[in-house]
Amino acid sequence: MQDKKITFIGAGNMAGSIINGLVKGGYPANLICASAPSLTNTQKLADELAITASQDNNQSASWADVIVLGVKPQMMADVCKALVDGGVDFTNKLVISIAAGVSVTRFQSVLGENTAVIRTMPNTPSLLQKGMTGLFASQQVSAQDKDFASELMGAVGEIVWVEEESQINGVIAAAGSAPAYFFLFMESMQKKAMEMGFSKEDARLLVQQSAIGSAEMVKQNAHLDLETLRNNVISKGGTTAEAVRTFNELNLPEIVGKAMQAASDRGAEMEKLF
Ligand SMILES: NC(=O)c1ccc[n+]([C@@H]2O[C@H](COP(=O)([O-])OP(=O)(O)OC[C@H]3O[C@@H](n4cnc5c(N)ncnc54)[C@H](OP(=O)(O)O)[C@@H]3O)[C@@H](O)[C@H]2O)c1
Repeated sequence: MQDKKITFIGAGNMAGSIINGLVKGGYPANLICASAPSLTNTQKLADELAITASQDNNQSASWADVIVLGVKPQMMADVCKALVDGGVDFTNKLVISIAAGVSVTRFQSVLGENTAVIRTMPNTPSLLQKGMTGLFASQQVSAQDKDFASELMGAVGEIVWVEEESQINGVIAAAGSAPAYFFLFMESMQKKAMEMGFSKEDARLLVQQSAIGSAEMVKQNAHLDLETLRNNVISKGGTTAEAVRTFNELNLPEIVGKAMQAASDRGAEMEKLF
């Protein structure tokens, strides 16, 4: 990975996990700074990982080659405006946003229209270095900077680049919001298992281990499509066949499609708000 000075503006859950992944993956801690109004998160990161903690966004951003913006979407415009007003020059810097719902155009309207901006959309398993991140680069971003961003977000999981910015909303639908879909499915299964007489703990274990095992089977059998994996569990006239027939009768695929569309539509709406 190229050695660049990276400043994280905002160092909560998501930025903190990226910093963790970077340092544990061997990135030099002295090239990483985390800046936030309080030292609550940043000092902990500094103590554990030997990065620099700061409460001065302007100074930290001016020092860096790469600025990772990790504040909440609703405060992003104000935080960026304060950097510009504080004299930070973005001309030769790469800006990487991890915020949902803030468009490249919006960033460039505040930071300068020729600013190199990469929008990323990670998901919560990034906290365990098992994340899935989609990335989109504005046309000002060089191939070298794209490689850098690939490695940065690769520190917390898998990555995929999208060609069109609107596809970031597809990433939100298929990955960003997806952990909640799987949790809802698992919750529903746990509830039914409890109705079938299992304790809460046993019901959770039954569901949790089945989910982990199934996900691992998907990962380890990349040569098999998902339909084949499903059919391999089903014997004619058996129990799984009955469950899957019931799901299909109730049109689970259509329900999933509608939910994903709703997530994507909301992502597009949010881009108008922030
Ligand atoms: N968590 C996720 O699963 C997830 C997934 C995808 C994308 N994201 C995106 O990641 C971003 C951060 O989410 P999060 O869950 O990590 O939030 P979080 O844990 O609440 O962290 C927010 C951070 O922003 C800092 N902050 C607030 N005002 C600031 C300012 N003026 N200047 C610098 N830093 C400031 C906070 O500092 P203090 O500690 O001092 O309050 C805190 O460190 C959001 O834009 C979100 O859309 C999150």
